[in-house]
Amino acid sequence: MKEIILDHPLVTHKLSILRDKNTGTKEFREIISEIAILLCYEATKDATLDDITIETPLTKYDTKKLNEDKYAFVPILRAGMSMVDGIIKVIPNAKIGHIGLYRNEKTLEPVEYYYKMPDKIEEREVFVLDPMLATGGSAIATINRLKKDGVKKIKFLCIIASPEGIEKLKNAHNDVQIYCACKDKCLNENGYILPGLGDAGDRVYGTK
Ligand code: PRP
Ligand code: URA
Repeated sequence: MKEIILDHPLVTHKLSILRDKNTGTKEFREIISEIAILLCYEATKDATLDDITIETPLTKYDTKKLNEDKYAFVPILRAGMSMVDGIIKVIPNAKIGHIGLYRNEKTLEPVEYYYKMPDKIEEREVFVLDPMLATGGSAIATINRLKKDGVKKIKFLCIIASPEGIEKLKNAHNDVQIYCACKDKCLNENGYILPGLGDAGDRVYGTK
């Protein structure tokens, strides 16, 4: 499955602000939220709708609605939380699960420290959220864990992806559609994306 990359002047403009090291926490958070909404728009293009009948002020009208309850969003803590604010503005009734992972700075391997999912997670379509897909380790570990719980339909939404991370995730889970705002050039020797935006968690939470 080919990754879906948002290719739009507005996204390029927003990413330029996000990448800039002089952009402060407030604006950084706001832009992550805005791009997350655009990713969600793209990732729900194949959503199935239920038939309903409503009354406009003038007439009865057969139309359709989204069953928001079918969805669960799973941010990868910490940085993934920054994408939730935006997405719940457009799908406010979706359930939210959390997985806590951090990368071991030496091995770059993900270490799980928290996992809590909504009821009947296996029946829901899950959007995994993380601004950065770098080596791919965190995304793959999250999806492994969700599949172990029986989840069948998973999409991965990120702001910036490395070519290496995309390939690794595709090889591990070729049924998972990847959505990203931008595919960057490469990883550096410390597993950071170039040009990237630095450490997403630190920039969202102002921890460095
Ligand atoms: C960052 C990022 C991803 C992970 C990506 O999290 O938010 O979860 O790195 O890297 P990978 O693709 O190589 O696994 P980090 O481990 O820095 O934790 P944090 O969000 O708590 O800061
Ligand atoms: N995690 C980040 O926050 N940034 C990177 O560039 C790579 C991993």
